[in-house]
Amino acid sequence: MDKKHFILHYLIPIAIGLILVGLAFALPPPVDQRLGVYDTLLGNLVETNCRNCHATGVPDTHHNLIASSAINRYTNAPFGCQDCHPVLSNGTEITLVRNCIECHDNTFNGMNIRRPHHETQAAADRHCNACHGSLVDNYDDGHYIPTSPPSTMTPDTKYKVINQTSGRKWGGCESCHEPNLTASPPIYGNNNTHHRLGNLSGFRNNDFTKCSICHDMHNATYGSDSIRYCERCHSYSSLHNIQYDIANTAQLPGYGHLGPNDCQGCHASYVAGSLAPGSDIIIPTIDSVSVNHLHEGEPMEVTIYGDDFVTTVDGITRSSVVAIAVGVITNGTTIPNITVAPTNITASAMVVTIPAMNKGLYAIYAIKDGIVESNKRPLVAVERVLVNSAIINSTTVTINGSGFGTYDPAYNNWTNVTINNGTTFRSVQVINWSETSINVTSPDAAIEDTATVNSIHGTNSTQVTGG
Ligand code: HEC
Ligand code: HEC
Ligand code: HEC
Ligand code: HEC
Ligand code: HEC
Ligand code: HEC
Ligand code: HEC
Ligand code: HEC
Repeated sequence: MDKKHFILHYLIPIAIGLILVGLAFALPPPVDQRLGVYDTLLGNLVETNCRNCHATGVPDTHHNLIASSAINRYTNAPFGCQDCHPVLSNGTEITLVRNCIECHDNTFNGMNIRRPHHETQAAADRHCNACHGSLVDNYDDGHYIPTSPPSTMTPDTKYKVINQTSGRKWGGCESCHEPNLTASPPIYGNNNTHHRLGNLSGFRNNDFTKCSICHDMHNATYGSDSIRYCERCHSYSSLHNIQYDIANTAQLPGYGHLGPNDCQGCHASYVAGSLAPGSDIIIPTIDSVSVNHLHEGEPMEVTIYGDDFVTTVDGITRSSVVAIAVGVITNGTTIPNITVAPTNITASAMVVTIPAMNKGLYAIYAIKDGIVESNKRPLVAVERVLVNSAIINSTTVTINGSGFGTYDPAYNNWTNVTINNGTTFRSVQVINWSETSINVTSPDAAIEDTATVNSIHGTNSTQVTGG
């Protein structure tokens, strides 16, 4: 259907104000927080919020940095245990900090660790959908932005009409996306969420060159605060496709953008009889992943929970596949993204078998109809610790296997080898240690003892045998 027909048949233009005041417009604000990221500020996130998305594999994601011989950008040397677990001044105790906030966007052990997410290259390049998915557009993906001056129908960044008695607003983003400082964590308004992105928004170092990412301070054709500039990331093609659980909420006000009861929130002068035009591919979102921790080289079945993975609008069904991307940090390598078809799919869950991956940080997301992408969730692949054999030869025990990681004698309380016969622990001295082989001296070890490798990637045991 073309636009003219649409407007003729489905939209009834109504004088602003007259009808609006009388309408029972039972929307929030503030909007629910079911899709995308919670609208708060980084500083309000606590450890559990971080772990919600970085569900497991947190030690592994750090320990992989050693395994990959990544360079610690703060010390300019390869990562070692002492960077993150400094030995206390008594020389015997070691720090184990688990609270993300004590390190990230903070100074820890001399490392001034940058703010997560918004100081990545993807963010600096304004490729916000690298993590936010198709809930936003990329400024350079060629999407349509009208060049005509905004009309009475064009949404405002704030609002156009307000009911002075109820405080209810219509005609712009602020009509629904309003703050609620009593929520936990507090929900912030749009200027706060966009202005407090660290170096990205320009407020940190008074870098006013950054403001024009979202406004146009000079040469502004439509006024510096026009929605036209926001449309670089929020074009109508993404805005008209945001709705929580479309199958069950299309007719209910307050669940998103494209139901007929929500049009006036943005287009104050219109009442619609149908879904918004262009709302044919509802953007899928991921809420959680059943495992977040893959083993290197081993395929694994994973269930992904979220909504709108498969939807039927106007008789057309659109479906999703699962994609794995190389993590933002390791981006730049030539490993292509992997896509896998689900073995089972409903609107709110997909089951897939992820193929064998190399160790490292990845992101998992859904691609619907080959076009739109969900938000991303981090996914970590790690080595599995496997002890294949422990062979004793006089006072030397040679242990072979894989996933042994690295060893630092100062951290012998954590990464080590133990040998015992069930009741007695033998004396053990590590001679050398590699990913696949460890040699220890143990004068009292014996055949049929149990030898255990405690690696940074986990623990595994076997029985000691003779040579
Ligand atoms: C880049 C930082 C970093 C480096 C380098 C690092 N770790 Fe860790 N490690 C962490 C963090 C962060 C945690 C806590 C993870 C959590 O709470 O989920 C941790 C947890 C641990 C744990 C506890 C695991 C658990 O969940 O109980 C051990 C043991 C450990 N590290 C040993 C080491 C050893 C040994 C080395 C050197 C070979 C090392 N780490 C190097 C950041 C690091
Ligand atoms: C002891 C300090 C410390 C703690 C605690 C800590 N981190 Fe880190 N983390 C680091 C350092 C250092 C790096 C490397 C940073 C860099 O290169 O900028 C890192 C890197 C990461 C990375 C990127 C890994 C990669 O492959 O590049 C992720 C993801 C991460 N941390 C998440 C977390 C989360 C989530 C928590 C809390 C559950 C946490 N960290 C707790 C120190 C810490
Ligand atoms: C590396 C992944 C990543 C990229 C790239 C990214 N974001 Fe985010 N963004 C997040 C995550 C995760 C959160 C929630 C935690 C946080 O605030 O850091 C978030 C939160 C936000 C919020 C809500 C406010 C807040 O602090 O929670 C806004 C607004 C936002 N991002 C805008 C942007 C813009 C604009 C860009 C592109 C210029 C961008 N993001 C690029 C991951 C990313
Ligand atoms: C009629 C009320 C309403 C209006 C007006 C409105 N939104 Fe929304 N918006 C919602 C609801 C409801 C959601 C779903 C929130 C959820 O469940 O997380 C949403 C979600 C979003 C999302 C997805 C990510 C997130 O943070 O929740 C973006 C991006 C967004 N809106 C941008 C805008 C922009 C830009 C405008 C103005 C042009 C706007 N909205 C106006 C109701 C509205
Ligand atoms: C990532 C996008 C983004 C960036 C970058 C950004 N802003 Fe904004 N700004 C917004 C949003 C969203 C709003 C709220 C909607 C509105 O008022 O237009 C806003 C609102 C404003 C307002 C109106 C505030 C009010 O309460 O009425 C001013 C003034 C402003 N910004 C100035 C700036 C300046 C100066 C910079 C650069 C230092 C900047 N902005 C950078 C997104 C951004
Ligand atoms: C550079 C890209 C970019 C520009 C330009 C931009 N935004 Fe956003 N906006 C985002 C991202 C990313 C999010 C977070 C989406 C999510 O929650 O996943 C967001 C979220 C929103 C939301 C949902 C509520 C929230 O805070 O998360 C609203 C409303 C919004 N933007 C309004 C605006 C307005 C008004 C402007 C213009 C003044 C604007 N944006 C300009 C990237 C942008
Ligand atoms: C979240 C805000 C938002 C909501 C809610 C919304 N729209 Fe839109 N819509 C936009 C934006 C932004 C544009 C682009 C307008 C512009 O730039 O002039 C647009 C454009 C349109 C257009 C013109 C399309 C074209 O091809 O130029 C129509 C018709 C329309 N919307 C109808 C609707 C209907 C019907 C609904 C409710 C079922 C609705 N919209 C809900 C934001 C919204
Ligand atoms: C809404 C989900 C979400 C939340 C909440 C979240 N993260 Fe992330 N984080 C991501 C995604 C998605 C990526 C990108 C994964 C990829 O592509 O590699 C990421 C990447 C990272 C990275 C590596 C990229 C970088 O910026 O250096 C670090 C470090 C990190 N997160 C730390 C944290 C910390 C600390 C917190 C809590 C303050 C947190 N995250 C909260 C989703 C989240």
